[in-house]
Amino acid sequence: MDISRDGFAPVAAALATDGWCVADGLLTAAQTGALGVECTAEHARGAMRVAATGSSHSAGLLRGDVTQWFDMLAPTSAQAVFVARIDALMHSLNRALMFTMVESESHYAVYAIGTGYVPHVDRLRDSDERVVSAVFYLNDDWLDDEGGALRLHLAGNITRDIFPRAGTLALFMSSDTLHEVLPATRARMSIACWMRQRPRHR
Ligand code: OGA
Ligand code: MN
Repeated sequence: MDISRDGFAPVAAALATDGWCVADGLLTAAQTGALGVECTAEHARGAMRVAATGSSHSAGLLRGDVTQWFDMLAPTSAQAVFVARIDALMHSLNRALMFTMVESESHYAVYAIGTGYVPHVDRLRDSDERVVSAVFYLNDDWLDDEGGALRLHLAGNITRDIFPRAGTLALFMSSDTLHEVLPATRARMSIACWMRQRPRHR
C-alpha cells in the first residue's frame, strides 16, 4: 500500500484485520534521504549508544544495534517531518480503530554487520503504553540477499519478512507481535517508533 496515494485508511484496515502491514509513501524520497544522511552522520560521530533491553541478559547477546533517541522537545528538521507524519497517522488510527494513543517515541538504530535482534515483543513488561510499533527504513539500494529482514512471527506459524529498503514503513501491534531482526551483510539503518497511550496503571 502507498500512503501518499491512498492515505492512512488502508493502514487502519490492515492493522484491524491482520495486526500488521507494510506501507510506502510515508515520506518523499528527499525527506527519507535527509533522515538517512542524519543517521549516518550521528553514527559516524559516535553519538549512538548500545541499546538497553527490558531483560536482565546482557543486551549484546540479544540485539546488535546502537541507538539514538529523538529529542521530542527539540527534534531536528528531518526528524520533525517524520514525527509530524507519524502523529498524523497516529490520530487517524485513533479515529478509525478507537485507540487512545497520545504520543510517539522514536530512535535511530544502526545494526552492525552480522548482528540482529532476537525474537521479542515490543510491549515492555509491566507497561501497556506501547500500542503500535512502526519501523521506518533508511537504506538505499538494499538487496534481499544482503539479509537484514524484519521477520514477523504471525499466528499459525506463519512468518513474513520485510526488507529494510529506504522508505518502507513496517507497522504492527506492539502487544502481541513476535518479531526479530535477521543479521545482514551490511550495516542496517532504521527509525524504530512506538505510538503510545497513557499508562492504565503504574
Ligand atoms: C526494535 C525492532 C525492528 C527493525 O527496535 O524493537 O524490533 O526492523 N526493530 O529494526
Ligand atoms: Mn522490536
